[in-house]
Amino acid sequence: MSPTPQIVLGSRNRKKSQEVAEILAPHGVQVVSISTFPQAREVDEDGATFAENAAKKASQPALELGCWVIGEDSGLIVDALGGRPGVFSARYSGPGATDESNNQKLQQELTGVEPTRRTAAYVCTVALADPTGTIRLTAEGRCSGLIISESRGTNGFGYDPYFLVREHHRTFGELSSRVKHQISHRARAFAQFIPGLLKLLPEIGSTSR
Ligand code: IMP
Repeated sequence: MSPTPQIVLGSRNRKKSQEVAEILAPHGVQVVSISTFPQAREVDEDGATFAENAAKKASQPALELGCWVIGEDSGLIVDALGGRPGVFSARYSGPGATDESNNQKLQQELTGVEPTRRTAAYVCTVALADPTGTIRLTAEGRCSGLIISESRGTNGFGYDPYFLVREHHRTFGELSSRVKHQISHRARAFAQFIPGLLKLLPEIGSTSR
């Protein structure tokens, strides 16, 4: 049997990486975290869009390491905030931001906004770079919801305890990872991405280090 081709995941966010690994595992695709490559430089996420950042998170390490790399960039867009925090979701509350401080800032900014006007969406963009740094595959997924004012549940990460999925009457903090992996922005992006990735596996196997 040929060995599983090595694909690096260009994210240092542990919980997000775990979600990506869980989404890919049933398809026989295993990812190795970029954290296992101390020589890989941090990627400056200065793109104006999720797509630009995902491409950068794939192609910079791919070229540096000579590997196939999946870049993933995601975040929350809130309609009443003109799309903020958007590409700044991870660092919304400034340097040293944590999920807690980001959620506090989100609640402050939404003070006085009626519950029905707190519509939002999570967005996820995925890109695959080959060892020359060329982007070979991209996909995007979205999941709509409402930002509630009280935290509910402890599952997931980031803004999940405040992100209510209306169809399920639950936040991502309350829904199981099994359900999140069926309906989330990340699940939707990967559902589009995986068929192309599977087609490329023979090439990935033959050009992996
Ligand atoms: P990135 O690692 O630069 O793509 O930042 C993603 C940020 O967006 C995370 O740190 C979270 O704040 C937010 N985010 C993205 N996806 C999710 C999710 O599935 N749940 C909760 N927060 C998310």
